[in-house]
Amino acid sequence: MADESKDTTHFGYSTVAKSDKADMVADVFHSVAAKYDLMNDLMSFGIHRIWKRFTIDSSGVRRGQRVLDLAGGTGDLTAKFSRLVGDTGEVVLADINSSMLKVGREKLRNKGIIGNVNYVQANAEALPFPDNYFDCITIAFGLRNVTEKEKALASMFRVLKPGGRLLVLEFSKPVLEPLSKAYDAYSFHILPRIGEMVAKDAGSYRYLAESIRMHPDQETLKQMMMDVGFENTTYHNLTGGIVALHRGFKF
Ligand SMILES: C[S@@+](CC[C@H](N)C(=O)[O-])C[C@H]1O[C@@H](n2cnc3c(N)ncnc32)[C@H](O)[C@@H]1O
Repeated sequence: MADESKDTTHFGYSTVAKSDKADMVADVFHSVAAKYDLMNDLMSFGIHRIWKRFTIDSSGVRRGQRVLDLAGGTGDLTAKFSRLVGDTGEVVLADINSSMLKVGREKLRNKGIIGNVNYVQANAEALPFPDNYFDCITIAFGLRNVTEKEKALASMFRVLKPGGRLLVLEFSKPVLEPLSKAYDAYSFHILPRIGEMVAKDAGSYRYLAESIRMHPDQETLKQMMMDVGFENTTYHNLTGGIVALHRGFKF
């Protein structure tokens, strides 16, 4: 496992300079963007749709509200929020990666989702929005890829309105040992092969498996959220903790 110092961080199981990680992550998502949605369905047997549905249902988002779908990629959550907030609300799909944003924008426009969605290329660590701006922020399968997670969480806290909530949907630590073993075998042996066959890119899917193992577990992420000011912070394990949904409020 990688050691972290002031100037280094992990990229999967490799130790890299902090200044290099964002470019390495960018290469992964430029490479997989075109096949991203297909791969999500294949790799998760479609279960990512249930995790995302649960996130929407836990968001409490209502008509007229302003939502940030951060690291929103190809826009699955944005599409659902767009319907929920209606004409009087707004959804901002923000992502650091131009290829993912392009695929997302085209997909949503093809679905007829136009009026209340805006697209912004932005780094989660330095969000280009005013203080106290959003009613709700979601970051789904994105935080794991961010170099300075604490900085990103603080930036999300800043742009949330008082009373607003953050939902972090992310891979986490399976809670049952037999499930954990089967999941390891699947992620390290089968997943890169599917990546090679479908996206012609085994390396990016090896990074996916490694980055999941390096991501903070449920309790650590909860503490990180509390450290930047979130209150009433809780998490809910999904599919035996393979994924967890963390939720915290700004008061
Ligand atoms: C696994 S995809 C998730 C996409 C979408 N949220 C979903 O659930 O399908 C991760 C996304 O995080 C984005 N990302 C990575 N680092 C980021 C950063 N520092 N700031 C904003 N977005 C970032 C990537 O470009 C990519 O689109």
